[in-house]
Amino acid sequence: MTATCDLVKDIKRDRLAGRLSAALNELTDVDLLLERVLTDSRVLVSAEAGSVYLKRGDALVLAICQNTYLERIVGGPSELPFLNYILKLDRASLAGYAAVERKPLVVDNTLEIDPDAPYQHYTAIDNSTNYVCQAVMTLPLLCAPGDIQGVLQLINPLDESGRVKHFTEDDLAVMKFYVQCASMALEKAMMLRSMTIRSIEVISSHDPQETPAHAQRVACMATELYDHWSERHGVPRSERFRILDMMPLAAMLHDIGKMSIPEAILTKPGRLDLNERAAMEAHVVKGARIFRKARTPLDRLVFQIILDHHERWDGQGYPGWVDIDTGQPLPGRAGPGGRVQGKRAEDISIYGRILAVADVYDALVSRKTYKDSFDESLSIQIMEQESGHHFDPEVVESLLSRRSVLKKIQDRFPDSMDTAALGAAAPLAKAPVAYPAVF
Ligand SMILES: [Fe+2]
Repeated sequence: MTATCDLVKDIKRDRLAGRLSAALNELTDVDLLLERVLTDSRVLVSAEAGSVYLKRGDALVLAICQNTYLERIVGGPSELPFLNYILKLDRASLAGYAAVERKPLVVDNTLEIDPDAPYQHYTAIDNSTNYVCQAVMTLPLLCAPGDIQGVLQLINPLDESGRVKHFTEDDLAVMKFYVQCASMALEKAMMLRSMTIRSIEVISSHDPQETPAHAQRVACMATELYDHWSERHGVPRSERFRILDMMPLAAMLHDIGKMSIPEAILTKPGRLDLNERAAMEAHVVKGARIFRKARTPLDRLVFQIILDHHERWDGQGYPGWVDIDTGQPLPGRAGPGGRVQGKRAEDISIYGRILAVADVYDALVSRKTYKDSFDESLSIQIMEQESGHHFDPEVVESLLSRRSVLKKIQDRFPDSMDTAALGAAAPLAKAPVAYPAVF
């Protein structure tokens, strides 16, 4: 009877693994994907904790960790204290061993590892948290033949009464299958992120203000603001999740039109004359044109963000109700003197309104060639003064509510950070995202 029950459980789990791995293909954002992979993996083997390390050069960087026990104690995932942990990529650690050997490693009890084994369990995290990683399964995340993206580590599987047990052969088999699918999805998402960051590098080579780190910060801030705004507005969770997944990449591309602006204008010190200003403002329609023939939902989101990110809540922004091909007002949208009417308030897409807040706020708190960084309270004061003028008041409220997370974003992506580091940067631990129901 027990054997039959186990068989039924295994069949159900295999089906679940199939559904979960298929759902990974819907994701484009690396950070959300990592969260999802770790959450799903822990569900599949009832693991109390787990982490993902990403390869960066000859190191493994702890990109994400989850620990139900510790999260209860410290008050949430974002409070976990060990997000900047780095391991050398060699055989000496459990994660390093699985990565170098390109094969899974299962340890039943880290306290009883043979001293002659090539690997040891590093106890720095255990010691700093008083949490013992007893049973550990480590699986490499492989990509192109011979290459490795990182490792997934699952810690302390629990039995039905909450006691730590050992991982079983069946656990290993189901995880080998799931990790293969996760690796493919991760490779695709990493490639997309990497290509996006490289596009920003091209812009950056024309315009020193547009560093990849600035684009990354704006992207994270915009995602955070949308998370707050959409929760407050009761956006259905599947829609909310879909946008949260696309927002980081879409927001990074908001200034892609600057590639077609003459470098002499982009780098000119001091004020621009009227013609130069018009040329500079053209980066919006030039960028929007690239995405006007949208082939994917991501294209559509990028289009809206680009087109609306310099509009103002009070209608004084640009480019307004313009035909992006001709530069002329759309029918019925010519104002005095034939000028294009500005978009105002909720005529502007929420994505544009959010990007405007994130873009200006990051410019205020960052050092630019034309100014020093403003301190956080002065920057907040300026944003509040512009609420209802430049900015949507509700989005400014979201900014105030997520102020501490925005500070973490600033610290995580300094302008000195290089492109490779940005590509493998640890995501910020966010509030749990409302995943679509897949179970
Ligand atoms: Fe812009």
